[in-house]
Amino acid sequence: MTETIKTGVLGATGAVGQRFIEALANHPWFEITALAASERSAGKKYRDAANWRLESQIPEEVADVEVVPVDVGAVDADLVFSALPADLAKKVELDFVKAGCVVASNAGAFRKEVDVPLMIPEVNPEHLGLIDVQRDNRGWDGCIVTNPNCTTIMFTLTLKPLMQFGLENVNIASMQAISGAGFDGIPGMAILENVVPYIGGEEEKVESEPLKLLGEFDGSQIIPADINISASCHRVPVMDGHLEALWVGMADDPTPDKVRQAFLDFDPGLSDLPTEPEHPIIVRDEPDRPQPRLDRNAGNGMSVSVGRIREGIRYMVMGHNTIRGAAGASVLNAELMHKKGYL
Ligand SMILES: NC(=O)c1ccc[n+]([C@@H]2O[C@H](COP(=O)([O-])OP(=O)(O)OC[C@H]3O[C@@H](n4cnc5c(N)ncnc54)[C@H](OP(=O)(O)O)[C@@H]3O)[C@@H](O)[C@H]2O)c1
Repeated sequence: MTETIKTGVLGATGAVGQRFIEALANHPWFEITALAASERSAGKKYRDAANWRLESQIPEEVADVEVVPVDVGAVDADLVFSALPADLAKKVELDFVKAGCVVASNAGAFRKEVDVPLMIPEVNPEHLGLIDVQRDNRGWDGCIVTNPNCTTIMFTLTLKPLMQFGLENVNIASMQAISGAGFDGIPGMAILENVVPYIGGEEEKVESEPLKLLGEFDGSQIIPADINISASCHRVPVMDGHLEALWVGMADDPTPDKVRQAFLDFDPGLSDLPTEPEHPIIVRDEPDRPQPRLDRNAGNGMSVSVGRIREGIRYMVMGHNTIRGAAGASVLNAELMHKKGYL
């Protein structure tokens, strides 16, 4: 694994695209060779096109790179990360796969397709086998792998170690950061000093995606998990970090201590992927944790924090939505693909 892989970022200037740039700067395997965005940005230097809003500086190695349009002919890459709006992703990602690229997508366009893996490496690494089915079905040399919606990722990571107790039903109420809506997503006038109790399409994704993620791959398809999930999603005036309240029903009715121990013992058994956090789940025992401002950067933004584990079972989960919930999740997927020989 000494040669680096030519890597493009589609939607490189947006909220998630900027997190991709951060995650890929100095990456040991993936080398950024193309930054692509809309016609508004194409032709500009990245430093002029990207409305950089992160705590960190634009990495020097990309600052003067010229942004190109999201066309196959303009993007010199074997691996592309997509942070495009879903409607556009549907067409553009297909163009790249057909041209032989591996596409790791954040967008919702292909998550539901039966031969497209929806992945959280710590939860369902074996689902990568679906790539062989996808290539057989569609005659592609390239392939597409997706990561779930940002809200789904946080709590599904915590459901995985609870499967041993006979998971039956999950109720979830989310408090979602404004960066989840993208840079132009929600005006300050609408969210400051306010809570918006509606995020279009979100509850449907949160209720359906975990069933695929926690489902069983039988060698040709995913058999969805038999769990009832009910969600209510809300936008709150927090910059980064989705906080979620969970009520989880399990056949074995474990005590809070057993649940806490299951979180502590959770070892996904991945083998040293560069973006993998040391602890995917961190247990916070202080009574008022986790909190977005205090806990979102744990594990370089790749760990989720749980707390307030109570009888019921009830608990809170929190994670960084544009890192663990988006760019970092996609990069971790691509790292697993590389390790398993799909790249
Ligand atoms: N934000 C999150 O927490 C999050 C989490 C998980 C998944 N996602 C998904 O990730 C994707 C990106 O979200 P985001 O929050 O980063 O959005 P965003 O901040 O609005 O960024 C959108 C990106 O797409 C580009 N773009 C927009 N219209 C385009 C066009 N017609 N042609 C080419 N490029 C175009 C933009 O380029 P310009 O700058 O040139 O306009 C920008 O780079 C979405 O599918 C979203 O659902 C987001």
